[in-house]
Amino acid sequence: MKFSKRMDRFGDEIFAALNEKKIALEQQGKKIYNLSVGTPDFVTAPHIKQALIDAAADQENWKYALRDLPELLEAVCGYYQKRFGVTITPDMVTTCFGSQEGIGHIGLALCDEGDTVLLPTPCYPVFIAGAKMAGAEPYYYPMVKENNFLPEVSKIPEEVAKKAKFMVVSLPSNPTGSIGNDALYEELIAFAKKYEIVLIHDNAYSDIIFDGVTGKSFLQYDGASDVGVEFFSLSKSFNLTGARISFCIGNPEIVAAFKKLRGQIDFGMFLPIQKAAIAALTGPLEMVKEQCASYQERRDTLCGGLREIGWDVPDSHGTMFVWAPIPERYTSSMDFCLDLMESAGVICTPGASFGPMGEGYVRMALVLPPKKLREAIAAIRESGILA
Ligand SMILES: Cc1ncc(COP(=O)(O)O)c(C=O)c1O
Repeated sequence: MKFSKRMDRFGDEIFAALNEKKIALEQQGKKIYNLSVGTPDFVTAPHIKQALIDAAADQENWKYALRDLPELLEAVCGYYQKRFGVTITPDMVTTCFGSQEGIGHIGLALCDEGDTVLLPTPCYPVFIAGAKMAGAEPYYYPMVKENNFLPEVSKIPEEVAKKAKFMVVSLPSNPTGSIGNDALYEELIAFAKKYEIVLIHDNAYSDIIFDGVTGKSFLQYDGASDVGVEFFSLSKSFNLTGARISFCIGNPEIVAAFKKLRGQIDFGMFLPIQKAAIAALTGPLEMVKEQCASYQERRDTLCGGLREIGWDVPDSHGTMFVWAPIPERYTSSMDFCLDLMESAGVICTPGASFGPMGEGYVRMALVLPPKKLREAIAAIRESGILA
């Protein structure tokens, strides 16, 4: 069979080798510490679950939704006011089935085949997949250790900036755990204005940020909604990864274009899920804060514990991830991951899967409680892999 040329833009599944090894080790009865997948192990708040259960009991809610409920859009506006002090209106909001889907598709509404788009490297893989689907040419702007894994706008060549259609920025950053600051966002907005580039801010981790820093929204900055939109996911803040709830929020024209695109294929979000989202956005937020403290405790346990056994892993500043340089004698993050799994039973994600500058690192997800993380650290020490 012959498939579209578009499919040739996507590489082979690089996780196959890791999965095979994991299954083989499990069959041998080896103890596994799976730090590879970024899905929270914390519980979903009871009031959110109840809202979904109640709504699902009503047959009316099993019909096509066809639209975002007005009360859901109002709930997003209310949340942005309460949480970020930002005033937005319902025409500045639309739903999508997770930021993954939203970012995967938005390029189709914003650019044409061959257009240049600016993506961070390393980055969350769907930024690259979305650009490829739209037929765009990525220009990767580096996020390097020497610059605290932050974008350096001034280093983007003028000829690239002039032709770029959109730029993706995502802080706190998966995989590096770096976080933004006011000056950086002001610079990004000025840059986007100067070169007429749409800014897409992926804000998946505004509630998982450490050491007393409060996570912000991109829309808090002057001029942000003139130049761009923010994807705001409920997945990680509220432990709703499976429910697939995110919003594209900001510039009304971009939101309308995105809505028009999705309207061609989408009959709306399942109504009980919309009700669950309303419950999350309008309900108490104490659990979100407590959870952030738990992630910080895990971060301290993992990064501090690994440093104690001689692996110089810096503290992550936000997200549910830790970005660790691989030992010097390794040249491939995949080889290191396979050896680490074999010798210690610890599963990480190879840095190479996060774009051109991900090689040389592995990403670990903070998805186990401190006790299990300490066991994983002990297993790494005993394996001798760091020697
Ligand atoms: C940076 C980033 N963006 C988007 C997503 C996907 O989020 P969602 O569950 O809303 O699709 C993730 C998930 O890990 C992420 O880390």
